[in-house]
Amino acid sequence: MAIAAALDLRAEFPTLDREGLVYLDAAATSQTPRAVLAAMDDYYAHHRASVHRGVYAVAAEATDMFEGARHRVARFVGAEARNTVFTRNATEALNLAARGTAGPGDKVVLTEMEHHSNLVPWQMTGAELLWVGLDTDGRLRLDELDEYLAAGGVKAVAVTHVSNVVGTINPVAEICARARAAGAVSVVDGSQAVPQMPVDVVELGCDFYAWTGHKAYGPTGVGVLQGRREALEALPPLIGGGHMIASVTKEGPRWAEVPTRFEAGTSAIAEVIGLGAAVDFLSDLGMDVVREHERELTAYALGRLSGLDGVTLDGPLDPADRGALVSFSVEGVHPHDVAEIIGGQGVCVRAGHHCAQVLMKALGHQATTRASFAVHNTREDVDALVAGIGRVQEVFA
Ligand SMILES: Cc1ncc(COP(=O)(O)O)c(C=O)c1O
Repeated sequence: MAIAAALDLRAEFPTLDREGLVYLDAAATSQTPRAVLAAMDDYYAHHRASVHRGVYAVAAEATDMFEGARHRVARFVGAEARNTVFTRNATEALNLAARGTAGPGDKVVLTEMEHHSNLVPWQMTGAELLWVGLDTDGRLRLDELDEYLAAGGVKAVAVTHVSNVVGTINPVAEICARARAAGAVSVVDGSQAVPQMPVDVVELGCDFYAWTGHKAYGPTGVGVLQGRREALEALPPLIGGGHMIASVTKEGPRWAEVPTRFEAGTSAIAEVIGLGAAVDFLSDLGMDVVREHERELTAYALGRLSGLDGVTLDGPLDPADRGALVSFSVEGVHPHDVAEIIGGQGVCVRAGHHCAQVLMKALGHQATTRASFAVHNTREDVDALVAGIGRVQEVFA
């Protein structure tokens, strides 16, 4: 396909200078483009100062770089900067949304395909959890969602945009609309979606949307929570301290406005600036192009792997409904052995429960092996994966 052939980005990623490295683990963490490293280096080398406080020139430059990044990160997903909160990662963003939304006595609808980051925080609220299951294709049972909503009294609906295990792209706009009609708050985990497809959080109609920088070609240590203004304003802050207050007396604090009230302490300044460069990198490529490149590679991988004897795949087989990853099992071989032998050939894949043990149980697996695709990957990388699986089968024959 023409678009896939046009993306030749290996040279943009210094880690991929390593001879023979085939990196198929972007769903765990992406590689870092040179432009992101340069942006963070520029801050540290030329503009290092604390943001929001200093009145001298270097501090003003650092603040402009930081807040400029907030604007670009917001625009990248159709949000406003004033409704864009920086957190440490998606996990912290989801904790903030969950803990501020539900408590004991509330009902919360979750799906069986949630990553632990959009599951354990809800367990910690003490709310009653109602689970939406999957059909045999790895799609959500929306009839179950409707039953829960029809029964009434649901406080929140939490759902992942794209599954990190079965790859399903969920109809989140539809789910959020149904949640809203039933008076429930919607919380979407966009960690796997934002790096690989166009996302507009306002069009999706969700109350909260969380994602993480390090899967979106940004650095570790920065995540994002976006939301409707009223939803964000209704959330209590999770962490208290400097910067997040309007004033403090012995009697107590008065919170600063959103998003400041959720950004206590010194921010991850270089990381936010790096994330700004990462969304510029993706915007320059164009998210339609990124999606098409990865959809085409995923289709190629599904075609090649489904033709292998003794290999089974999880999730929808139609690449139109599927994010850029393939979870698979090799008959008679533990996924860790699969990953280790493939890794010995220089091909990096992930094995385990992928922080989704509820899903693993529903699928009847202890673990799977997962290959995931990013902008730097090519068909040759998929061929290397297939050769690696062949080697696994030889070893265990
Ligand atoms: C779907 C999904 N949600 C949330 C997370 C958590 O991201 P982080 O560890 O950056 O908070 C991940 C990471 O694996 C994920 O795949």
